Amino acid sequence: MQEVTEQNESIVRETSTTPESRSEGYLFGKYEVGKLLGCGAFAKVYHGRIVRTGQSVAIKVISKQKVVKGNLTAHIKREISIMQRLNHPHIVRLQEVMATKSKIYFVLEFAKGGELFTKIAKGRFSEDLSRKYFHQLISAIGYCHARGVYHRDLKPENILLDENWNLKVTDFGLSAISDQVRSDGLLHTLCGTPAYVAPELLAKKGYKGDKLDIWSCGIVLFVLNAGYLPFNHPNLMVLYQKIYKGDFRFPKWTSPDLKRLLLQLLDTNPETRITVDKIIDDPWFRKGYKDIKFHGEHMELKDQGDKYLNAFDII
Ligand code: ADE
Repeated sequence: MQEVTEQNESIVRETSTTPESRSEGYLFGKYEVGKLLGCGAFAKVYHGRIVRTGQSVAIKVISKQKVVKGNLTAHIKREISIMQRLNHPHIVRLQEVMATKSKIYFVLEFAKGGELFTKIAKGRFSEDLSRKYFHQLISAIGYCHARGVYHRDLKPENILLDENWNLKVTDFGLSAISDQVRSDGLLHTLCGTPAYVAPELLAKKGYKGDKLDIWSCGIVLFVLNAGYLPFNHPNLMVLYQKIYKGDFRFPKWTSPDLKRLLLQLLDTNPETRITVDKIIDDPWFRKGYKDIKFHGEHMELKDQGDKYLNAFDII
């Protein structure tokens, strides 16, 4: 893991004052570390502030032991260098990577609005609002897929909102770390999100990262519109059977156009599942917009009033 330290701009030596060993309000490098934001199977995320500028950041702390155990050192190094080059309005930016003897620290752009799905817990979204967030999600996914980067672990805790209520996907390219932890069955049940698992992962016959992401986008869109998960059951075996068979029901308010798109996103066959290129041509996706162009950098939308909007400008 030493190479990771050497590759990146900032090196922090092992000290007793690291985010996982102290209470909030102390200094770590150029950051003041604040409260714990979230806790997963392999990482803890803290709020931080750049002391000199006062800018908020999120600091994700990962155990090196887990990375080394999973033989993921080379993989992580590659993913970090890809992530540092991702620059998109709907992807949380990886600003800096630091390391101590036992931990890796990702300094991430701070998404002030928290998790998108805590908003859904207060009620489902209209089709127009669901479309706005789905546009932003596909804009981010399309940008990454065009660069050969796949998320592979899209789930509620990875879909955040910024201070303007725009969507920000986090942990792009970092799924290998959580995959490793998820190979432990116990951790998987406790911390994973089995309702988001794609059928080809259950079949264990290998999978393509882009198709996996599209399945997860289908789950996200269903939840935005329905307010509940398409596949849900307290018994894991029953849940997996439902996913494998694509056994889900639409709520009565879903429009025919949205049903058609969801059926193509939640196609259990990854070979025939819809791709980003085809999503952009979909009637429900385009509704209210005369023209949608995706040119690798971001998505442009031309509304009925002939105005081009950025994916993050839709109201
Ligand atoms: N939780 C996890 N990552 C985060 C981020 N980048 N901003 C805010 N909360 C988070």
